[in-house]
Amino acid sequence: MATTEQAQNTPMFTDPEFAQSVSAALSDIEDGLLRAVDTEHPLLRETGAHLINAGGKRFRPLLTLTAAQLGDPEAPGVHDAAVALELTHLATLYHDDVMDEASKRRGGPSANQRWTNSVAILTGDHLFSLAAQIMATLGPRAVRYQAETFARLVRGQINETIPQPDATNPIDWHLDILAEKTGSLIACCAHFGAWLSGAPESQVKTVGSFGETVGVAFQIADDIIDVSSDNSGKTPGTDLMEGIPTLPVLYALQGTDPHEARLRELVSKPVAAQDLDEALSLLRRSEGLRQARKTLDGYLNRARELADSLPKGHTQRAFWDICDYMADRQT
Ligand code: IPE
Ligand code: IPE
Ligand code: MG
Ligand code: MG
Repeated sequence: MATTEQAQNTPMFTDPEFAQSVSAALSDIEDGLLRAVDTEHPLLRETGAHLINAGGKRFRPLLTLTAAQLGDPEAPGVHDAAVALELTHLATLYHDDVMDEASKRRGGPSANQRWTNSVAILTGDHLFSLAAQIMATLGPRAVRYQAETFARLVRGQINETIPQPDATNPIDWHLDILAEKTGSLIACCAHFGAWLSGAPESQVKTVGSFGETVGVAFQIADDIIDVSSDNSGKTPGTDLMEGIPTLPVLYALQGTDPHEARLRELVSKPVAAQDLDEALSLLRRSEGLRQARKTLDGYLNRARELADSLPKGHTQRAFWDICDYMADRQT
């Protein structure tokens, strides 16, 4: 497994019994993932297992399993849904690395780098088909919700590639993109866990909103990490070099401080390889980065408020723990 942020991330939970129970369920999910990609086609078997074996945080299954603690965490379908949604996430990573021309993922080579763009795209498609087959066993509500989620995710991804429409605020437009491309799937993971565990519909709705809100925070943290960390398992500055707008850059571009004029010049277009170190170092101490952290904290406060309305107990505590983990992750 890769050496960066790891799958064994249940220490985020302050209740050791809760951590233990989610950790045991996560190892079942791990087996389920490997079983799902163990198909008869030798190349698809190898390429599909590539990113699973490389590691990853397994944040989405962790959220499904956490939400399932609101009802019966062993209820039929909970683990299957967690596997199917992690497969959906994985598929988007194979495709996203082609789109971003990324060469590193989860501490190792991306599939497009290790094989080709075509192999990476087809592996992503294959993983989607495996996820859909699992969803079909969970019934029409599951199939419909996963499909709607995926439509939102794709809309977010494509909106990131087109110019922002006139008369929209760049920050609002960007935050909507984050809700669609990342919040949607994380919301879906929380929703499925609560729903399949038999939790009341009001709680299913609350944890869905929690997932969406924490999902936006998760993406903002990821975009901050692209600037601030050398240990993410991905190449730092990928977003800058690809000219992908992120919150720290959008805030930096709105700034007027003459000391940051050079930063604005650098990040107003895709950053050339020879300018990357300078752009990263200016962005790391910029007002834009500070503002992005503030926005992230705002999302986490909203997520905490949503968790406040859940029944008191170890599951509510776990949702707060997830918010604390997300707050720590940005550094
Ligand atoms: C990466 O997701 C894509 C984003 C939405 C930021 P993760 O950060 O969850 O990636 P893994 O699964 O841990 O590799
Ligand atoms: C990707 O966002 C979101 C999805 C895969 C839907 P990013 O482009 O920021 O993800 P990373 O940084 O490549 O993991
Ligand atoms: Mg990417
Ligand atoms: Mg990123």
